[in-house]
Amino acid sequence: MPQTYHPVISSTGLFTPKQSISNAELVASYNAYVELHNRQHTADIASGKVEALQPSSVEFIEKASGIKARHVIVKDPVLDPEIMAPRWPERGNDELSMMAEIGVAAARQALEAAGRAPGDVDAVLCAASNMERAYPAMAIEIQQALGIDGFAFDMNVACSSATFGIQTAADYVRSGNARSVLVVSPEITSGHLNWRDRDSHFIFGDVATAVLVEDVSIAPARHWDILGTKLKTVFSNNIRNNFGFLNRADPGKANNPDKLFIQEGRKVFKEVVPMVASMILAEADRLDIDAAGLRRLWLHQANAGMNRLIAQRVLGHEADDDESPTVLDTYGNTSSAGSIIAFHLHNDDLKAGDVGLICSFGAGYSAGTVFVQKVG
Ligand code: COA
Repeated sequence: MPQTYHPVISSTGLFTPKQSISNAELVASYNAYVELHNRQHTADIASGKVEALQPSSVEFIEKASGIKARHVIVKDPVLDPEIMAPRWPERGNDELSMMAEIGVAAARQALEAAGRAPGDVDAVLCAASNMERAYPAMAIEIQQALGIDGFAFDMNVACSSATFGIQTAADYVRSGNARSVLVVSPEITSGHLNWRDRDSHFIFGDVATAVLVEDVSIAPARHWDILGTKLKTVFSNNIRNNFGFLNRADPGKANNPDKLFIQEGRKVFKEVVPMVASMILAEADRLDIDAAGLRRLWLHQANAGMNRLIAQRVLGHEADDDESPTVLDTYGNTSSAGSIIAFHLHNDDLKAGDVGLICSFGAGYSAGTVFVQKVG
């Protein structure tokens, strides 16, 4: 009989930057920028050549998104109305990169939680929506910093990077190509957010997560069985970022809005909610899981209203915070890391046998489901 393998989630890790920006601080900075801009362009605004900018508001942000604050790696330059972008000294080639540093911090936590020595890990995937450089891969730098033998590579599926990473890791385990795989998602979203765009300046926050996917034979007694994974992509221009090596930001142009995150938020909301809800229901059906009986949904953290609607369609009733916990209020949208933060912070209290769902959705469009069951 050929040997069979079965992937589980052994542990997770979370790195949260120390600095945080409240909506009040964010809006004060944005509105100072608006005032400055409108003052500098008084004549052109009066003649109709330039459009006056409108102020942002805390009430709108909280009502439209559910976001109250977000963590960032550096706060001061982001809030400086003359800069409104993260700034840090460029690191030398012999120093650990920014993404690797926070990825390693989250990964160490996951390894420690599972009692796993780095030497026993076979692969590292750096799954995130932006990479700090083209090559060498961020994942290889993380692998080196942790002292892991084996192989590593980067993958980018925007907000669904982590769930796509989990399925990829699970497939390595299922095929016998690896027994222990780290999926690391360092999301420095402050670098691709346009802090001068009223429609989206409140959306993102920085964070790093790690998920250790392993064969059940080596996993700790307490783990999460992976019952099934499903991925889906459908092309859409409604969330887009044109930055790239053939398409770089123009250094002479302030803020380069086209080379930063941009979205048609309303369309995203309308199109993604039904797509994700029906994907979850179809996958639950395929796995013979009663969707209405799911103990907890760890959903992508982009918008409280989207999560409310998706949870309602999946569970058949309005979900409370226990059934569908939110981390959006204090973390903002952390791209691919959002559902993993929710899982990391809110899985301890579940009982052996409980079934839940980790689910991501976002740019691409891309969506991923990971149905899990608690063991031990
Ligand atoms: N402060 C005050 N008012 C604002 C504002 C701000 N920062 N930004 C926009 N508004 C105004 C608009 O000008 C508009 O005014 P109008 O009605 O007079 O035209 C009104 O508020 C509504 O704007 P709209 O963009 O339609 O808001 P919304 O209710 O759709 O909420 C999002 C915006 C982005 C929060 C919401 O669409 C969303 O979260 N969509 C999903 C996004 C998502 O998941 N993206 C994935 C990213 S990975």
